Amino acid sequence: MSEFLTIPEIIHAAEEKLPRPIWDFASGGAETETTLRRNRLAMERYALCQRVLVDVRKCDFSTTFLNHRLSIPVMLAPVGSLTRFAPDGALAAARVAERKGTIAFVSTVSAPSLETVAAGVDGPAIFQLYNYGDRDWVKSIVRRVENAGYCALCLTADTAMYGRRERDLHNRFFPRQVASDRPNLADVNCTHDEAEVNKAGMTWEYLAWLRDQTRLPLILKGVMMADDAARAVEAGVEAIYVSNHGGRQLDHGLATIEVLPEIVQAVAGRAEVLVDSGFVRGTDVIKGLALGAKAVAIGKLMSWGLAADGEAGLERALDLLAREIEVGMALIGATSVAEIGPHVIRPTMPLG
Ligand SMILES: Cc1cc2nc3c(=O)[nH]c(=O)nc-3n(C[C@H](O)[C@H](O)[C@H](O)COP(=O)(O)O)c2cc1C
Repeated sequence: MSEFLTIPEIIHAAEEKLPRPIWDFASGGAETETTLRRNRLAMERYALCQRVLVDVRKCDFSTTFLNHRLSIPVMLAPVGSLTRFAPDGALAAARVAERKGTIAFVSTVSAPSLETVAAGVDGPAIFQLYNYGDRDWVKSIVRRVENAGYCALCLTADTAMYGRRERDLHNRFFPRQVASDRPNLADVNCTHDEAEVNKAGMTWEYLAWLRDQTRLPLILKGVMMADDAARAVEAGVEAIYVSNHGGRQLDHGLATIEVLPEIVQAVAGRAEVLVDSGFVRGTDVIKGLALGAKAVAIGKLMSWGLAADGEAGLERALDLLAREIEVGMALIGATSVAEIGPHVIRPTMPLG
């Protein structure tokens, strides 16, 4: 049982345990890391409103995502190379998600194989697709995802080109060159350079084509603009995943919490909205829900939890987040997720 009492303790333990290049890979952002920092700074620009004299002896923070019940409104974002943080990689994350009553996204570039992960858990899991191969390859991986029993398919669209992560470049650390990390790509029918061109060439036509390839609910990840969100809904996606990849892709981009309200407005209830990038505390999660997200996902915190103490470390991170959410809800006078709306939050000045 992990003994960490706070989330910063977990982050500190991860930093102590990981070799510097792996810590930097997990924690860094693109170029000047302005987007990375803005995700956190923008979080500070919202304050929660403290309401008193409400009976909060029971605060229920369960919710649903695509008709699946979540015991906690926090999901595990798709993270590649998870075996660098815990030997069982994506399987470890999926097991923790199952135990904690939530859902893990399984990255195309994670290990073990998508089939092994799905066979290792009974609960729902979502496969995250990168458009690496040609369309025949995509068709075949979509069939594999369906046959393995995934409950939804998530297309990541914010990696038209791989962000310039300067910490990795300075460390001469090139995570994408390790094939053993990527069993799902074993049968990919093109070279690394061709795969990059495939990703760069993705358009709305591709989304429409992918929509026709599967009846699984489709999630579009990396949406940061209201008109893109509306267009994706019209193309038939069931969920919009607001994300700037944790600040690892476009530098000098907006924070997700800044664009969330306009995206929720554009979606207008026609699809569910999920958000990530910079969410590490219970109050952050409450802010995401208050601005209209159905749930919040964690990428770095998941990686840090696994690095700090394997599955127990990630479980502890989720337990601590849950406790923070519960305390936060009690102090804003909300007893259920339905009671967390725009009225519990307002813009304020940033600190420092
Ligand atoms: C080490 C690492 C690897 C990632 N790999 C993927 C990936 O394979 N696919 C993907 O869609 N997003 C990937 N992401 C982005 C996450 O899914 C998520 O959008 C991001 O981490 C959220 O921000 P946060 O780290 O501040 O929580 C990765 C993030 C990290 C930190």
